[in-house]
Amino acid sequence: MAQTWGNFLFSLLDYKTEKFVIAKNKKVGVLFRLFQLGVIGYLIGWVFLWKKGYQETEEVIQSSVITKLKGVDFTNSSQSGLQLWGAEDYVIPPQGDRVFFIVTNYVVTPNQKLGYCPESPKVPDGLCTYDNECVEGESVIAGHGVKTGRCINDTGTCEIHAWCPVEHGQTPSEPMLAKAENFTIYVKNFIKFPKFAFSKLNVLPTINSTYLKMCRYDKDHHPYCPIFLVGDVINWTGYSFQDLATKGGSIGFGIEWNCDLDKDESQCNPEYSFTRLDSAKNSQNSAISGYNFRFARYYNDAAGQTYRNLFKVYGIHFDILVNGKAGRFSIIPTVISIGSGLALMGAGVFVCDMILLYMMSKSSFYRETKFEAVTKKQSGKQRERKHLRHHGHHRQDGRHKREEKQGTEMQPLTSVSCQPNNNPETQIQPTSSALKTHSSERRPQGTVSFRTQHATEKQTISPVSTLRTPRNQ
Ligand SMILES: *[C@@H]1O[C@H](CO)[C@@H](O)[C@H](O)[C@H]1NC(C)=O
Repeated sequence: MAQTWGNFLFSLLDYKTEKFVIAKNKKVGVLFRLFQLGVIGYLIGWVFLWKKGYQETEEVIQSSVITKLKGVDFTNSSQSGLQLWGAEDYVIPPQGDRVFFIVTNYVVTPNQKLGYCPESPKVPDGLCTYDNECVEGESVIAGHGVKTGRCINDTGTCEIHAWCPVEHGQTPSEPMLAKAENFTIYVKNFIKFPKFAFSKLNVLPTINSTYLKMCRYDKDHHPYCPIFLVGDVINWTGYSFQDLATKGGSIGFGIEWNCDLDKDESQCNPEYSFTRLDSAKNSQNSAISGYNFRFARYYNDAAGQTYRNLFKVYGIHFDILVNGKAGRFSIIPTVISIGSGLALMGAGVFVCDMILLYMMSKSSFYRETKFEAVTKKQSGKQRERKHLRHHGHHRQDGRHKREEKQGTEMQPLTSVSCQPNNNPETQIQPTSSALKTHSSERRPQGTVSFRTQHATEKQTISPVSTLRTPRNQ
């Protein structure tokens, strides 16, 4: 028992190394080198240079967006007369959010008072011919008020209790706020990559206030100007201001931060992109496209009665979307990238092995050479060992036994290593023929040579060793 453990502990200190078979085959050799070149190219070119595989990346971006619009326009409508629109009027909500809406067109229904009036004929549930179709107390589905129980013959609709008169205006076919095209949007965007404790603002510190008042963003000429013309932004989405302003629409305003933090901070700059989110290019159907909503402004008249102006506004909805990622050198992703590259080399070995051993005309020879059937040899060896013991080596020490074994294994080494292997054209002979012809002509090993010292494995392939085995039988 102790001896077994001793053997085991000693064997732990052995170093096992692999034996290689060098196949002098140019086709597979070239293929393997090409594969290696490919892997190295992939690793250096794609993984390291292009994908920056040596960097640790951060995709979480913390950001804050503040917007400010400037510009005024006058409108003149028959219902409400001359009206001035400033940013506080046309930007909804007015607090300078990431998402905002600019009024470009509207229908106003002025001076609505609470009272009784006929429902609009546009509402199907409000249509009637007789009073009993207008049940008192029921609200009109998708309508403006509560039915009173009367049908008004002039309009063919129910009388309702509502803000009267109900809305009846037509949407203007031209945007009322035509100058909205020249309104400006000032976008301030603070970002932070928490992992790298890196923060930046899209307004460069070098920009002075005079420039900020005058500049307009332009991809080529003013890429760092944070002020955008509404008309330009819409044009960059591939639509025209007229398309969107009359019926309304939605614009995605992208800010992309791709920062390589191994470079200087000044290299980390935002890129802007613009898309129309309610893509209405193929649907000219006016019922689907567009963006509008209603709001009211309330007043009290001299008598103290409340009245309101109802606005149905059409306009452009902006959504500022901030994205980004940052990378910085780190040892762990570098090691992982290199490791995965090396693992790919292993795949090349596998493929080339498959080609060499199974897909070539000489594959059977390579297979015979590379693979060794062990069972028969082991029995031979055991016999050899027994034989040695019978000759008086009755040592119990495991180490000595191993030395003996090594001694027997080393023997064929000399006979194999002195074989010339410069005869690749020779037709391969099976081992049986090698047994017969014990001469200098019997060495068909031309295309295979060995590097390591483990002669046991060579025994199967070397004719010399096959000749040797019968000696023990
Ligand atoms: C917007 O400004 C440009 C240049 O200042 C001007 O030519 C254009 O007429 C303006 N557009 C509108 C709708 O006022």
